[in-house]
Amino acid sequence: MWSSKTKEEFYTCIADLIEEPAVQAMDDIPQHAGGVSCLDHCIFVSYLSFALCRRWRLDYVAAARAGLLHDLYLCDWKKARVSPWQRLLVHPQMALENAEQFGLSELERDIILKHMWPVTLRRIPRHRESVVVNLADKLCASAEFLRIYNLAHAGERLLEFNRRRLLRQRRCLFGR
Ligand SMILES: [Fe+2]
Ligand SMILES: [Fe+2]
Repeated sequence: MWSSKTKEEFYTCIADLIEEPAVQAMDDIPQHAGGVSCLDHCIFVSYLSFALCRRWRLDYVAAARAGLLHDLYLCDWKKARVSPWQRLLVHPQMALENAEQFGLSELERDIILKHMWPVTLRRIPRHRESVVVNLADKLCASAEFLRIYNLAHAGERLLEFNRRRLLRQRRCLFGR
């Protein structure tokens, strides 16, 4: 799963998105567990969805791209008056609206909008890729909650896709 060839192929699917300011802005938003940003989570979901869809001969490009954008809600919940339950319900629509700027396909829209099913009862996934990303999201969130994400060094394995963060870290290291 973590071979360099797989990671290279994955990168080609998301290369034009990962540098986008809106995508990078997710790095400042905390997600399920301490030390894991919304961007870390989205890269994790994107990569797992890509790997599963490629294995099952599904549209892995759409899965990787929509996986990366599935939580692009860009909202710090601490500053918003939204209950934790409401967040679960409203954030897929917020993410979809923000992701539209990247020119989504119908499949990618379905993946983003339906990723919280069955919490969002009537938004049932219509495509197999949507089901895969839905499951990948739940697996990744569980791994983050249970700290398996950190134990498996998933962040370090996926860090190369977050090149801006690498540059920032280098700047800190070298004092620039
Ligand atoms: Fe989500
Ligand atoms: Fe998510």
